[in-house]
Amino acid sequence: MTGQLIEAGCRAIPGLSRWYLDHHVSIKRLEKQVRRRLGFPAPPASVTLLVTYACNFGCDHCESTSHPKAEWGLPFETIARLIREIREMGVKTLIISGGEPLIRPDLFEIIELANQQGLKVLLCTNGSLVEQQGDRLARAKLDGVFMSVDGLEETNDQFRRHPGAFKQTFHALELFQTMGIRYRMVNTMVHPGNLHEMEELGDWIMASAATIWRIALALPSGRAKWQDRFCATDDQIRWILRFIRDRRQRFPVMLSEEVGYVGPWALEVRPKPFASGDGLSHFAIMPTGDVIGSSCLHDITYSEGNIKQQDLQTIWRTGFKRYREPSLPEDCHECRYLHACGGGVYAMRVGDRHCLKRLWEEGGQ
Ligand SMILES: C[S@@+](CC[C@H](N)C(=O)[O-])C[C@H]1O[C@@H](n2cnc3c(N)ncnc32)[C@H](O)[C@@H]1O
Ligand code: SF4
Repeated sequence: MTGQLIEAGCRAIPGLSRWYLDHHVSIKRLEKQVRRRLGFPAPPASVTLLVTYACNFGCDHCESTSHPKAEWGLPFETIARLIREIREMGVKTLIISGGEPLIRPDLFEIIELANQQGLKVLLCTNGSLVEQQGDRLARAKLDGVFMSVDGLEETNDQFRRHPGAFKQTFHALELFQTMGIRYRMVNTMVHPGNLHEMEELGDWIMASAATIWRIALALPSGRAKWQDRFCATDDQIRWILRFIRDRRQRFPVMLSEEVGYVGPWALEVRPKPFASGDGLSHFAIMPTGDVIGSSCLHDITYSEGNIKQQDLQTIWRTGFKRYREPSLPEDCHECRYLHACGGGVYAMRVGDRHCLKRLWEEGGQ
């Protein structure tokens, strides 16, 4: 709320608007820091709950290294306790992800409990089980769905290691539309192996039941870690940014937050200025019970605590130092974009892919 007031004020005063954009990340961080010091910390806006690591797909890039025999997840009673704690903390939105959430038979009880607690519920799914679970999904109160398409049919199905995945996803989008779920996002990870298909894929998505298209770069996490074949070159990233800028004239397309700060493209490829909410307004709970500040760094080496030993409120109050008082690489300290970028996204820093300034400093727009 305070942040929204500051933002509205800065935007209303000519000259301040530019300054605000150039200091956006630092202002957000400062606001949160002041609130913590004064003893009324802002609650997290959203929490991602990975209900299982298991999945009926085995995508090449999977950040959670999911596969059919992967670790199952927390028992229902523990999840029920977490949902109550999440609500007591003042969280508004619960994002249910995995692995593939729909393979958990008690998923609908989990959603119902979240609904009863007044949480907004968003579901991330690969779409393959939506038709089979259609009746129960139609009864569940979902506020939105995130689905994934990673190329045209052949590329996507091979990449996701699931024949029929492409058709199932587009069919599931239609089913979700029929169910009256208003927010239907498609996520695509762009990499050198599918870049040439983006124009045609864009046409598919625009003609589908999707309401928004989110374009991501590979996060160096899970099965994508150390995989250089997923890293787009600078010229390819510039192409992607221009592609999003042009497509946005015709359809809601956005660059994922996890890519980080993109300088002069900032407001051309996203609806809002960049600011990573990791550990500041968001966290994720892994199937092991570990709490991670980033929703995409599914690596328990970066655990802030485990819900089997501590309650969530305590972890939220005492952990997350790596996000709240970050020790940034030396280059960041001397950088003119520091206050708009803040060192980018933690998960990208871990893989040394956080800094993109060469894209516009050396290559233009
Ligand atoms: C881990 S999946 C879990 C939910 C569901 N199984 C699905 O595929 O949508 C969540 C999202 O993260 C994306 N994702 C997985 N690994 C990634 C990576 N290394 N980099 C960027 N996005 C990734 C997936 O494509 C998917 O859109
Ligand atoms: S990205 Fe999603 S569908 Fe693919 S293996 Fe991971 S959890 Fe399963």
